Amino acid sequence: MHAMSNGKIYAAIRGAGHYAPERVLTNDDLAKVVETNDEWIRTRTGISQRRIARPDEYTSDMATAAARMALADAGVAPDEVDLIVVATCTPDMIFPATACLVQNALGCTHAYGFDLSSACSGFLMALETATGAIESGRVRTALVIGAEKLSSITDWTKRETCVLFGDGAGAVVVQASERPGILSSQMGVDGALADMLSLPASGCRHPASEQTLADRLHYVHMSGGKTFKSAVRVMADTAVQVVRDAGLTFDDIDLMVPHQANLRIIEAVAARLEGDLLPKCFVNLDRFGNTSGASIPLALSEAQTLGRIKPHDKVLMVAFGGGLSWGGIVVEWKP
Ligand code: ACO
Repeated sequence: MHAMSNGKIYAAIRGAGHYAPERVLTNDDLAKVVETNDEWIRTRTGISQRRIARPDEYTSDMATAAARMALADAGVAPDEVDLIVVATCTPDMIFPATACLVQNALGCTHAYGFDLSSACSGFLMALETATGAIESGRVRTALVIGAEKLSSITDWTKRETCVLFGDGAGAVVVQASERPGILSSQMGVDGALADMLSLPASGCRHPASEQTLADRLHYVHMSGGKTFKSAVRVMADTAVQVVRDAGLTFDDIDLMVPHQANLRIIEAVAARLEGDLLPKCFVNLDRFGNTSGASIPLALSEAQTLGRIKPHDKVLMVAFGGGLSWGGIVVEWKP
C-alpha cells in the first residue's frame, strides 16, 4: 500500500465500462407475447426497448465485457486488481460467486472477490464496500461491477413485470487516490418491506420443486404501485442527504444518475428536489429498460462515452430496490 501525502487514503473512480447484449426486444415484440402495447409501456414506464442476452450468454460474460472496458479506460492491467465485487441478483449460479468467474476470465491473478446481493441498490452498496476497503488501506484497486441477466428471472406470461426488465452490465475501476473521489454516501434497508419486491424461490425457504415451478416462484414478484411510491420517497430523501453531506448544493451537481427503473419515478424524484434537476438526469432506460444492479454503472459508462461526464464533474447517484434497499453516492469523477 502506498502512503498518501496527508496520511489519508481516498477512493476514486478511474474508469468505466459497459456491455449490452445485441438482441433488441421492442415494445411491439412484447405485444406479440402478452396483452400490452407500445403506448401503455412508454407512457407508464418510459421504456421503448430492452436488450436480451443470448441463451448461452451469462451474467459473468456481460460482467467480464464491461470490466474489460473499464480496465482499459482506467489504464489498469488485470493483475493490478485486488478486489472484484459483482452486484447481481442473477448470478450465474448460487455459488461459486460470479466474481470468481470474472476473476478467471479477466486473469485478475491477485484479486479476491465476491457477489453482493441487494437487487437494484447492489451497485451502490458494492461501490460503498469497495470504498471502505480502499480507505482502510487493505485494497488499492477494485473492480466494482453491476451485471444482470434479468430475462432469466422474468415471468414472460406476466405483463405487469415482463415489460420492465432488460439485461446488461456496467463496471467501474476504483483506486486509492490522494484526492477524494467518493465524496459522500448513504445506504439503507427496511426489511419490513421485504415482500414488496422478491424472487421467492431458489433459496433455502423454497428449494426448487414441482410446486415452486407450478406457483411460478422462481420469477420476480412485485407490488408495482407500492414500490413506485417508496422509490420516489427514499430516492429524493437520500439525494438531499448525500448532496448535503458532500458539502454541495444541487446547483453543484453536474449529472444525476438515478437507478433506471421508470421515467415517471425519475421525474417525480427530480420534481421533489431543489433546482431544475430533470435536465441533469441521465436517462437510458428508454433503450435498456430496468437492468437492476447493472442500471447505474451502465448509465455512468454510457454517459461518459456520450461526453455527458467529464473528469472533475460532480455526479449524484441514487438507487432503490428489493429489500427494500436504497443508497446514494456523490462522486467527483476522475478527480
Ligand atoms: N400493458 C398493458 N396494461 C397493463 C400492463 C401492461 N404491460 N401492466 C399492467 N397493466 C394494467 C393493469 O392490469 C391495470 O389494469 P386495471 O386498471 O384494469 O387493473 C392498469 O394497467 C394499471 O396498472 P397499474 O399497476 O396501476 O399501473 P401503474 O401506472 O402503477 O404502472 C408500473 C405500473 C409500471 C409497474 C409502476 O407501478 C412501476 O413502475 N412501479 C415501480 C416498478 C419498479 O421500479 N420496480 C423495481 C423492480 S426492480 C428489481 O427488483 C429487479
